Amino acid sequence: MTAIRPAILNLERNGIGEVAFLGLGRTDIIPLWFGEGDIVTPDFIRDAAKRALDQGKTFYTFTRGLTELREAIAKWASNQSGRKIDLDRVTVPGAAMMGVNIALQCVCEPGDNVIVISPMWPNIFQAVRGIGAEPRFVRLNGGSNGEPWTLDLDRLFAAADKRTKAIFWASPSNPTGWIMSEREQRAILDFTRKRGIAIISDEVYTPIVYDTPAPSLAAIAEPEDEVFVINSFSKAWAMTGWRVGWLIHPKGLDSQMAEMAAYNNTGSAVFAQYGALEAITKGDAFVKWQLDRCRNGLAIVEKFIESQNRISWSKPAGAFYGFLAVEGMTDSIAFAKRLLLEAKVGVAPGIAFGPKDDRDNDRFIRICFAQDPTRLSDALDRIAKHI
Ligand SMILES: Cc1ncc(COP(=O)(O)O)c(C=O)c1O
Repeated sequence: MTAIRPAILNLERNGIGEVAFLGLGRTDIIPLWFGEGDIVTPDFIRDAAKRALDQGKTFYTFTRGLTELREAIAKWASNQSGRKIDLDRVTVPGAAMMGVNIALQCVCEPGDNVIVISPMWPNIFQAVRGIGAEPRFVRLNGGSNGEPWTLDLDRLFAAADKRTKAIFWASPSNPTGWIMSEREQRAILDFTRKRGIAIISDEVYTPIVYDTPAPSLAAIAEPEDEVFVINSFSKAWAMTGWRVGWLIHPKGLDSQMAEMAAYNNTGSAVFAQYGALEAITKGDAFVKWQLDRCRNGLAIVEKFIESQNRISWSKPAGAFYGFLAVEGMTDSIAFAKRLLLEAKVGVAPGIAFGPKDDRDNDRFIRICFAQDPTRLSDALDRIAKHI
């Protein structure tokens, strides 16, 4: 007998963790497996959080986040989307993952399903499973030999049924770097309006784009649309450990958001929010610097791929990952484990980014190129020799 829900007992082990576990504590490995760069949060942000602590900002605060921070986010999101985002639609409940969970809790009951555009970072669809809903994967086409990643809208719409409560995507995507066009967003918005389906648009990588901007869904969604736009300080401001992000939610849900934030996390750590306020008001130069560094990482990986005949990709349009197709590879976990033990490079196996039986993903590995250029080049050399 057990009181634990089957959905929890059956949660799969994350394939990234399965490989990374083998390398735990080893200093001889170059780690490219996790979704973060190797830069410590800049001083001016850390100083703001330290000041907040010294001023005794250690108490509970409004569960939806500090008003100054929410105002600054509303301004940033309005600038970014080109459309005014009202303060009452912005909540800071914790980091992006908390926003994702709250959005899912708002729309799903056990037995419902969520369409997930894949390949997708595993925590998202595991969170769908965690609340007792089913992730339905609609995989992008392409992705190797320079073929761009493309979305088949007909396939996406055909995946929806009466129990579909949300469509989830990340644009720019982790792991592919694919960006959803405004045309695609409009078509999906139109579809979901007619069918009473919500959209959860994960935009945590929107500041990290190379040639064209990633359109925010907030630009075209009306405040009444059942649309949740998720964003975070984790990536663009190098603040993964701080756990601060935000949610732009439908108008009129503000009091529910205060309750949901209270019951899930009682808000984000208050001194971390002061750091985030400094980041979003004074961090533009840092974000630009980080983007230039990512661009350099992208160029290093691009050159590496040109020199390889067994590795290909679709060059990412955003985010800081290379999702690399390795010719002849059929088991990405076994490959990643061997790469770790023999070449001492940590990569994420492609199979982690979708259902366990998705053989297409098993042809890929993911690397994070937001890294020191010398170390990144060293890691790529090791991969080349191994292959
Ligand atoms: C697409 C996507 N969404 C959300 C997150 C998590 O962001 P946060 O650290 O703010 O929870 C990540 C982290 O890798 C991600 O890749």
